[in-house]
Amino acid sequence: MTTPVSLKVGDKALEMPVKSGTIGPSVVDIGKLYAQTGMFTYDPGFTSTASCESKITYIDGDEGVLLYRGYPIEQLAEHGDFLETCYLLLYGELPTPAQRADFNYRVTRHTMVHEQMMRFFQGFRRDAHPMSVMVASVGALSAFYHDSIDIADENQRMIASMRMIAKFPTLAAMAYKYSIGQPFVYPQNDLDYTSNFLRMCFAVPCEEYKVNKVLSRALDRIFILHADHEQNASTSTVRLAGSSGANPFACIAAGVACLWGPAHGGANEAALKMLQEIGSVDRIPHYIARAKDKNDSFRLMGFGHRVYKNYDPRAKIMQKTAHEVLNELGIKDDPLLDIAIELERIALHDEYFIEKKLYPNVDFYSGITLKAMGFPTSMFTALFALARTVGWIAQWKEMIEDPGQKIGRPRQLYTGNARRDYIPGNMR
Ligand code: ACO
Repeated sequence: MTTPVSLKVGDKALEMPVKSGTIGPSVVDIGKLYAQTGMFTYDPGFTSTASCESKITYIDGDEGVLLYRGYPIEQLAEHGDFLETCYLLLYGELPTPAQRADFNYRVTRHTMVHEQMMRFFQGFRRDAHPMSVMVASVGALSAFYHDSIDIADENQRMIASMRMIAKFPTLAAMAYKYSIGQPFVYPQNDLDYTSNFLRMCFAVPCEEYKVNKVLSRALDRIFILHADHEQNASTSTVRLAGSSGANPFACIAAGVACLWGPAHGGANEAALKMLQEIGSVDRIPHYIARAKDKNDSFRLMGFGHRVYKNYDPRAKIMQKTAHEVLNELGIKDDPLLDIAIELERIALHDEYFIEKKLYPNVDFYSGITLKAMGFPTSMFTALFALARTVGWIAQWKEMIEDPGQKIGRPRQLYTGNARRDYIPGNMR
């Protein structure tokens, strides 16, 4: 039992209970603070606030540790595959062979989307950003699958979860195909999850598509790396949306919308654009200087993280994956990779970055890898969203299944006008 924290407000002394988790910092339970003092806490950006209790993912930002249900990300990425990770995140344990076969079967049987979705897609402009298409089409799933939006029904929650994990790749591939004017490719269920996605993106009806196993394995690993990351902005968005009882498709669409921002999942696209803008190794010092200049809004994209104050463990695996993919594709000299490696080297030795603990994050190398695989930059965040869908669902389910769950409703420090009387227009 941890000693409670004492707080003195005026002449009143309050004792606030401290709760401890399995690992990581304990939390001070301030739930009764307002009732007892009439004061709120103030923590914009939630830098010191735990918004929930969770058993899914653990991050130690100082040590650079990421665990899914207790398993280190390095081990899962090295030995596991994405669907197994999905099972682990959703159910808490790695599957037995029978559970795994059943899970694969269930996901695979939901890969097609309602045929009417095709017409829904035709309404978009061809140059629409894939993330705008994903926000709309994932949200629209609730209009197509009415039979799985009752969140009080466990079976419906499960079916909605399977549908989203299975259909997201189909929708993301459709968004890509639509943007380049090629026909949609239907899923092929004898392929594994990631190979099927690659085929839906890159196959054309006029020739046979052969899955490159190295690329498929690399992309599968990228999906594992992105599958969950505890209470980040998009996950918190999903939880907040879900706390009102909104249907799961709408909640995940909210997560997709949040992920799109360049400070979050949009950073992979921004990082690659930045490398392209830098253009050559000799221009790096200029950009490093800009990143350090307080009067310049430029930031090194793919660097820094709210939680990791050490090397993001995902970035290490991503860097290795980038080399594997470029090797497989016979890309001997990728100028962007050269710039990335040199930029990383300089930043890791620069006082500004060392002092602020700014290390490469998962997005730094992912863009180079995805570009080499043939994805346009505009698809990068959609791929991130595809992988994160399972994390969002696991977190959403955990919240819905918590008997103590309440609607999320933060308070505020009001700094606007105090009460004043309305003055009719002709008297102002
Ligand atoms: N380049 C240059 N300086 C930076 C960078 C960067 N990439 N990131 C942070 N800093 C500086 C800030 O200017 C600030 O300096 P100050 O103390 O002198 O004011 C200090 O480091 C702390 O930065 P904050 O923005 O306060 O840190 P926060 O935790 O709020 O932000 C964030 C984290 C948003 C990820 C930030 O590092 C950033 O914008 N990085 C670039 C975008 C990016 O790569 N995002 C992907 C994150 S990973 C993901 O979402 C999957």
